[in-house]
Amino acid sequence: MDQNISMETISCTDCDSHQKFENEIVASLKAHPKHLLSKYFYDQKGDVLFQQIMNMPEYYLTDCEMEIFTKKTEEIAHAVKAFDAPFDLVELGAGDATKSSHLLKYLVTKNVDFTYMPIDISGNIISVLKERFSREIPDLDLVGLNGEYFEMLDKANSISSRRKVILFLGGNIGNMEVEEAHQFCHELRKKLNPGDILLIGFDLKKDPDIILSAYNDKAGITASFNLNLLERINNELDANFDIGKFKHYQTYDPLAGACRSYLISLEKQNVMIGNQVIHFSENEAVYMEISQKYAPEETDKMALQNGFKPVKHISDTKGWFIDAIWKVI
Ligand SMILES: C[S@@+](CC[C@H](N)C(=O)[O-])C[C@H]1O[C@@H](n2cnc3c(N)ncnc32)[C@H](O)[C@@H]1O
Repeated sequence: MDQNISMETISCTDCDSHQKFENEIVASLKAHPKHLLSKYFYDQKGDVLFQQIMNMPEYYLTDCEMEIFTKKTEEIAHAVKAFDAPFDLVELGAGDATKSSHLLKYLVTKNVDFTYMPIDISGNIISVLKERFSREIPDLDLVGLNGEYFEMLDKANSISSRRKVILFLGGNIGNMEVEEAHQFCHELRKKLNPGDILLIGFDLKKDPDIILSAYNDKAGITASFNLNLLERINNELDANFDIGKFKHYQTYDPLAGACRSYLISLEKQNVMIGNQVIHFSENEAVYMEISQKYAPEETDKMALQNGFKPVKHISDTKGWFIDAIWKVI
C-alpha cells in the first residue's frame, strides 16, 4: 500500500446496501417477535444522537473508557506492542473515535509506524472522521473503510499484510447476544494471524440502577435515538410510521446481565413500508437492542474459547468497565 496516501476511503462496492437495508428491515418486522437491527441506528441524525448519548451524565460507559484512553494511553500502547513493528490499527465500528483519538495522537507523537483503518457501516461518520483528523492529526495515515465489520476487515487484509491491532470499543460487543458475541470472536479470529492483538471493551455488571438509568435517561435522548430508526425507515424506504404512536421501553435483568430496549406500539395500527403492510397490535413490542454486561472472568472465558489468550484487563478507577487485551494464538 502506498503509505503516502494519508487519507482515503474505501467503500463496500459488492453489497447493495439500500436493498439489503430494505430486505432486512421488512424481514425483521414480519418476524415473531418483531425486532429491528441496531446496526441501522446510525444515519446522519443517529450519529449525532449517539454523540449526545455519550455526553449524557447517566451514560457512564464513555467516561469510564475515556478515562482509560486518556490516563492509560502509554499502557495501552505497550499492551498492543505499538513500538515493536509496523502495524495496521483497525477500529471496528469506530463511530466518532473520540476515545481512540487519544491513542492515535500519542502514537503519531511517538513517530510509531502505523496506519489507522476505521471501519464503520455509517458512511457519514467515516467522512466526519476523515475531515476532523486531517485537521487535528495531519500526520496520521488513515484509510477509512465504509461497510460492515468483516467485509471491510477482508478489505483491510487485502490492501495490507502488516500485523493487525484491532480496537473494538465502547458498547459494541455488548450489542450482541452472548452466543452471538462468541460467534463474532470466533469469526474474527479466523481473519487474524497469530500474534495479532485485539483490544476489546466490556461494560461490567454493577448496580442495576446505574445500568438501567444509563439507557433510560431523563432527557429522553435514548428514546429519540431508538425512535429515529423509524424515521430513517420513513425517509429511506417510503414508509409511514407515526413516531408518536410508539414509545421506548427499557429493561435490565441483573441475573443475565442483559439490558434490552424495545419500542412499544401504543395502539393497534398498520404501517406501510413501500407496498408491504406491517400490522402492530396494541402494546406489541419491537425488540431493538441488547447492551450485555459481563463479569471480568466471563470475558477471559470468551477469549480462551475462541482462539485468543487473555493478556490483561485495563480498567477505569471505579472498576465499572474494562478494555481487555487479547492476543491471537
Ligand atoms: C455504539 S457506536 C460506538 C462507537 C465507538 N466504538 C465508541 O465506542 O464510541 C457503534 C458504531 O458501530 C457502527 N456499527 C454498528 N454495527 C456495525 C457493523 N455491523 N459494521 C460496521 N459498523 C457497525 C455504528 O455505525 C456506530 O458508529
